[in-house]
Amino acid sequence: MEAMSAAVTLEREGEVALIRIDNPPVNAAGQPVREGLVKAVAALDADPGIRAAALYCAGRTFVAGADIREFGKPFVPPSLPETCDALAESRVPIVAVIQGTALGGGCEIAMACQARIGLPGAKLGLPEVNLGLLPGAGGTQRAPRLMGMAAALHLALSGKPIPAEKALSLGLLDEITDQTDPRMVALHAARRIASGKLATRRTDALTVTPLPAVLQAARETVAKSSPQLHAPGRIIEAIAASTRPIAEGQKEERRLFLESLEDPQRAALVHAFFAERAVAKFPEQDAKPRPIERIGVIGGGTMGSGIATACLLAGLQVVLSEQTEDALERGLATIGRNLDGAVKRGKLTADRVRATRAALTGASDLNALAGADLIIEAVFEKMEVKTAIFARLDGIAKPGAVLATNTSYLDLNQIAAATSRPQDVIGLHFFSPAHVMRLLEIVVADKTAPDVVATGFALAKRLGKIGVRAGVCDGFIGNRILSAYRRAAENLVLDGATPEQVDRAIRAFGMAMGPFEMGDLAGLDIAWASRRRHDATRPADERYSTLADKLYDKGWLGRKTGRGYYDHAGETPVPNPELPALIDAARAEAKATPRALTDQEVRDRYLTAMIAEGARVLEEGIARRPVDIDAVFLFGYGFPRHLGGPMFHADTIGAAELVRRIEEYAKVDPQFWTVPPLLARMAKDGTSFAALNEAG
Ligand code: 3HC
Repeated sequence: MEAMSAAVTLEREGEVALIRIDNPPVNAAGQPVREGLVKAVAALDADPGIRAAALYCAGRTFVAGADIREFGKPFVPPSLPETCDALAESRVPIVAVIQGTALGGGCEIAMACQARIGLPGAKLGLPEVNLGLLPGAGGTQRAPRLMGMAAALHLALSGKPIPAEKALSLGLLDEITDQTDPRMVALHAARRIASGKLATRRTDALTVTPLPAVLQAARETVAKSSPQLHAPGRIIEAIAASTRPIAEGQKEERRLFLESLEDPQRAALVHAFFAERAVAKFPEQDAKPRPIERIGVIGGGTMGSGIATACLLAGLQVVLSEQTEDALERGLATIGRNLDGAVKRGKLTADRVRATRAALTGASDLNALAGADLIIEAVFEKMEVKTAIFARLDGIAKPGAVLATNTSYLDLNQIAAATSRPQDVIGLHFFSPAHVMRLLEIVVADKTAPDVVATGFALAKRLGKIGVRAGVCDGFIGNRILSAYRRAAENLVLDGATPEQVDRAIRAFGMAMGPFEMGDLAGLDIAWASRRRHDATRPADERYSTLADKLYDKGWLGRKTGRGYYDHAGETPVPNPELPALIDAARAEAKATPRALTDQEVRDRYLTAMIAEGARVLEEGIARRPVDIDAVFLFGYGFPRHLGGPMFHADTIGAAELVRRIEEYAKVDPQFWTVPPLLARMAKDGTSFAALNEAG
């Protein structure tokens, strides 16, 4: 075995050779991989004794793409396009042997080879679009040559990997084997090429049938479904160039790729990719999670049923507990409907339906939770109710059981104090619908044991959710920041905006929903209860909008009552016709003088409130790093992924500008708008939230 580089070796076996990539953890095509591949091809070219070769990877996966960590750093040749070209032009035919995933640059490496074989379970994909990029190592030219323009467009625009069987039917793979050892498959395949038993072909010599109507349809779909994203349009144009001679098409691809590399959306999307992984690193990660198989869920409302569904879909045993037989029946029925929906969405396969339903039992008695490894309470959001349940659980739960609450605001330390085992108590704050939303805030109280925190993260992983560690405060990370920017939105209405304008401006920014639409969806009674909790402590000089209270008093609680800020009787919501009178009254009570506000002013104030509260949440240690806040908003609050999250976005505005804005807003409302000390320091030192992330 000869080393071609730190990550690639070449093994000669008679008249065949094996190129092996070994670059843990995912064999990303970093510099040593590229250098090694180019050298290996040159070595094969120079060896007349070699008639065929195979390329395979060590570890669990084929090449997972370009090395994303190299983006933005000084480039060291050879480039990935040069590497793929070397493979494509190799004198010796090379077969790529794919286990795990061949993604992005990995798929491009495979496509440049002269044949492709998939191992069981292999997947191939071009996920660059998710990172704001396009396949930039010949992928936009070679995918259409192998699978046709329509399939190539679908693969690159969806960003979703396809299974080996599909890849075979589309021509992206030549064979699927049932053998599982990549080296053995590689050796056998290379020998078959040498003996003429496995056909090879040169991808670059294939031609692409022009499909102008398909291209046009793709342009229209993208313009409608993701108008703010830059990468999809570039992908279409690069693939459109694949009907030209390959060198010309590659030139166009390169031009568009370099453009996308410089695009701020690329940096934001790469940040979002790493955010998802960064949050899985937490101070207690070395503790051993407690084994979790049986889950008790207390409360069969929307939240409890959703949590139970999420656990069932992850293959866990669930006991749902409700106070009465009637409520229990309703909860079990909701879970049944959730599971039906999961079957329809392909999240639960037909062969698992029976076992999944059998894993659920119901009880109208808390004692039924005695055998549970983890109990999640999801009852009415009232401290007395929760502490009473935890006090009872203390006498029921088995020793070592994790006792979790799904509270979204309440003081976890107080709940933990209701038991004799506060070390076992944790907050698991799910987001509705709990079996769909990916975020799980893992709230750590003063006495929560490290292995209980680790268990929370292990559960998040098992449920396919993104766990983010949060400290205790009213609302934790997400809802605490939400209350601040919701107040900013309410004050914008006092100052002259309409709820509809605020929602439209915020949607145009890229948020999935505006604050008032969101209020109508969640139910206006939730925010009402939160305001009542603060009545006693609300400062006398706080600017308070009574608009939401007026809606509540009229029984207009949003979608569930047919009316809120909007009227929901028709197919699409329209502004509640009685709102203007209520707004006038609220403005008069607040002694506000309304004026016309631009959408830009609306957006700036809203985002500044979000970022300022984020800075406070950081300084208080509720969130450990800016990236934790970003993940909460990306995965739980519909923050646009292509802007990276509120704290990433804050860096693009700059601390000095944020401080300037806050000082300006404070002229009208000095009580709400104060400069967070962290932001003031950052403005002075010229530092960024990104630097805080790096500091850990
Ligand atoms: N470059 C650098 N690091 C990468 C990477 C990549 N392409 N892909 C994954 N990693 C890192 C992760 O950050 C993580 O690091 P950590 O342990 O320090 O947090 C580690 O590898 C393991 O990754 P996961 O935790 O994601 O492992 P999974 O087993 O859950 O998933 C995977 C594996 C499916 C390969 C997933 O990592 C993935 O989707 N990776 C990204 C694939 C991708 O987007 N490729 C396209 C890159 S762009 C490109 O190729 C441009 C080209 O066209 C020129």
